[in-house]
Amino acid sequence: MEALQSLLEMKAWSKKIHDQDLKIGFVPTMGALHEGHLSLVQQSKARCDRTVVSIFVNPLQFGPQEDLEHYPQNLEKDFELLKKEAVDVVFVPKPKEMYPEGFQTMVELSQLSQSLCGKSRPASSGESNRPTHFQGVATVVLKLFNVVSPDQAFFGNKDFQQRVMMDRLVKDLHLDIEIVACPIVREKDGLAMSSRNVYLSFEERQRAAVLYRALQHGKKLFWAGERQSSKIIAQVTEMIDKENPKHIDYVCMCDAETLEEVFEIHKPVLLAVAVHFGKARLIDNMLLYGDH
Ligand code: PAF
Repeated sequence: MEALQSLLEMKAWSKKIHDQDLKIGFVPTMGALHEGHLSLVQQSKARCDRTVVSIFVNPLQFGPQEDLEHYPQNLEKDFELLKKEAVDVVFVPKPKEMYPEGFQTMVELSQLSQSLCGKSRPASSGESNRPTHFQGVATVVLKLFNVVSPDQAFFGNKDFQQRVMMDRLVKDLHLDIEIVACPIVREKDGLAMSSRNVYLSFEERQRAAVLYRALQHGKKLFWAGERQSSKIIAQVTEMIDKENPKHIDYVCMCDAETLEEVFEIHKPVLLAVAVHFGKARLIDNMLLYGDH
């Protein structure tokens, strides 16, 4: 496994691979890797000739009140895990090279970024020149795509909104990159794997398992014939509330493609939640008409 830092080295490596007519799979991450990330790596290994994993804690996508300073980082362990998966390149760019002085170009998806986490993770009130969360995500991903030049890129459906936005980004900007959506990986009790789960105390961790149970309950209501979003949302919220979360950002029913809110369910719909337990802001979701 090669470890590359500079953008030029990374570009040269990708060119060399493409010159051999080989396909590059790419898994962008912010490190603190867990089985969810490794499942993306395994998908890439199965579908592509070479696999690149990037590790970059992207300052642009954190709001001022968020956890950038404390975001879990363990490069040594990440490298070990990636070596075991026989990844070809781990790309760890430097913030100064990613965002040199004078950097100012921002990528914005005008509609898909407005709902769900776009609403609850704004830049900050009063700081209008600060990028919003999803501007930060779209900008760094496009930059990484330009440096790595992947044929396929792998995104987990836990960050459903992010994944839908990536589908749109490659379409809108005519990028020759296939976005591969991968299923959510869960702990035994259903809690979706996330780097932020390490913030949970033992007791918060037990309570957080309610998110999966509540989503399943919502799905059951749907399959029993309930078509009013408000009724499903009310019961899901009540279940989560009973476990005393610090704050519920949202429980939302939305169109699985446009992410617009759905009030009466007539087509594929996503039930999505964002909830704070202690210091952790956790997100999860479930399609009500199937699995993903
Ligand atoms: O999902 C993440 O870890 C990040 O949002 C990503 C895609 C690596 C961009 O920083």
